[in-house]
Amino acid sequence: MKTIFFVVLVCLATVSCYKDAQLLTEGNSKFTAKMFSEVAKQSPEKSFVLSAFSVLSPLAQLALGSEGESHDELLRAIGLPDDRTIKTAFMQLNNTLSFIEGVDLRMANKIYVANGYSLKKDYTAVVRETFQSEVKTVDFTASQRAADEINTWVEQQTNGRIKDLVDPDSFNTLTRALLVNAIYFLGTWKHPFYERLTLDSNFYLPNGKTIQLPTMFNEGLYNYVKSEELNASILELPYIGDETSLYIILPNKVEGINEVLENLKDFSVLEKALNNLHKKSAEISIPKFKTETKTNLKEILQQIGVQGIFNFTKANFNKILTDIKHDLYINGATQKAFIEINERGTEATAANDFDMVAVSRLVPDVSFHADHPFVYVLKTGRYILFTGVFHP
Ligand SMILES: *[C@@H]1O[C@H](CO)[C@@H](O)[C@H](O)[C@H]1NC(C)=O
Ligand SMILES: *[C@@H]1O[C@H](CO)[C@@H](O)[C@H](O)[C@H]1NC(C)=O
Ligand SMILES: *[C@@H]1O[C@H](CO)[C@@H](O)[C@H](O)[C@H]1NC(C)=O
Repeated sequence: MKTIFFVVLVCLATVSCYKDAQLLTEGNSKFTAKMFSEVAKQSPEKSFVLSAFSVLSPLAQLALGSEGESHDELLRAIGLPDDRTIKTAFMQLNNTLSFIEGVDLRMANKIYVANGYSLKKDYTAVVRETFQSEVKTVDFTASQRAADEINTWVEQQTNGRIKDLVDPDSFNTLTRALLVNAIYFLGTWKHPFYERLTLDSNFYLPNGKTIQLPTMFNEGLYNYVKSEELNASILELPYIGDETSLYIILPNKVEGINEVLENLKDFSVLEKALNNLHKKSAEISIPKFKTETKTNLKEILQQIGVQGIFNFTKANFNKILTDIKHDLYINGATQKAFIEINERGTEATAANDFDMVAVSRLVPDVSFHADHPFVYVLKTGRYILFTGVFHP
C-alpha cells in the first residue's frame, strides 16, 4: 500500500513593524521568478503574497531524502547541482540570515513522523545539521490532537500570525510524515510613516472603479528609478539595519499590472533596474494593507516542473524512513503567508534618521503614489524573501 507524505509550509512576513527579508541564492532566483509568475497567473486581479524562498528548504530536505528521478527534479527545481552543495549552501544560509542587522528573521523546520515509524539515522543527522530541523513522532490517527500540536508549534514560530495551518481531516492512517517550515519576518521602517498623516485616499482599479483606502504619506530622500524595461517605477523602502528593503514596483499605467507581471517573468530585469536606483527627494504615498495567502504548492510546483514526487509510481524517497521502501510520495503541499504593511516605527527614529523637515521644504524631484495595483518584493542582501501583488 502506498503511503502519504505531506509537505506543509508556512511562511510569514509580518511587517506590522515591517521588515523585509529576501533570500535568494543565484541559482534560485529563477525559482522565485517562476513561482511568482505561476501564482500571479492563477490569481488574476487579486492580492497575494508568497515566499518562494521558504519553499527551497523543504525541497532541499526532500532532495536529500530522495534518489533517482525524484532527486534529479528536486535538484533542478532548487537550482543546486548535488547533495554536497545543498549541505554547504543551506548551512551558510542560516549563518547569513542570523546576522542580518536590525530585523527579526527566523526560519524553523520540523519533521513529524507517524508513531511506529522512524527516520533513518543518516537522514536525521543530515537534516539536523543542515536545516536545524527538529524531528518528532506524532500519532496522525488521533488527527485532531496531531493537528493541534502542529498548529501550536507553527503559531509559536510565527508569533501567533499563522493559525490552523494543518487541517485534521487531511491526516489519515496512511500519513507517515509531515514536514513543516515556517519563516517569520519583522522589520521596522528606517523612515516610519506618521500615523496622523494617514488618510483615506483614492485607489484606482484597472476596471475603471475608484475605491478609498487608508494611505500613508511621507516625504524625503528615497531610492527611486523609472524602468523602461518594466514600464514601472520602483521605490525602495528600507528597514532599520540597512540590509533589508521593500521595493514597490508601480506600473506606469493604472491598468499596467499585467504587463509588469509579464515583464517580471525574468527577474534579471528587476535586478538590473534595482542596480539603477538613485536617491531622489520624493513625496510618496502607499496604502496600508494586510495580505494573507494560502497557496496550493502542489499545483504550483507541478506547473513549474516538479511532478514525479507527487506521483506514487515515480516518487522515490528511500532515504527517509527506516522501514518503508518505494512507497513514500508527496500527497500535498501548502504555503500560508502573511504580510502587513503599516506606518509603525518610532517617531524618534524618523526624526533622527530622516531629514524630513529639511527635505519637505524642497520641491520633490518625484511623486510616487502607489494608488493603483502594484508588485512588491522584500529583499535582504542578495536574497528575495517575499514577493507579492497588491490588487484590492
Ligand atoms: C539558524 O539556526 C538556529 C538553530 O540552530 C535557529 O534557531 C535560527 O532560527 C536559524 N536562523 C535562521 C535565520 O534560519
Ligand atoms: C511600455 O509601454 C508602452 C506604451 O504603452 C508600450 O508601447 C511598450 O511596449 C511597453 N514596454 C514594455 C517592455 O512593456
Ligand atoms: C504517474 O507516472 C506514471 C508512470 O510514468 C504515469 O503513467 C501516470 O500518468 C502518472 N500519474 C499522474 C497522475 O501524473
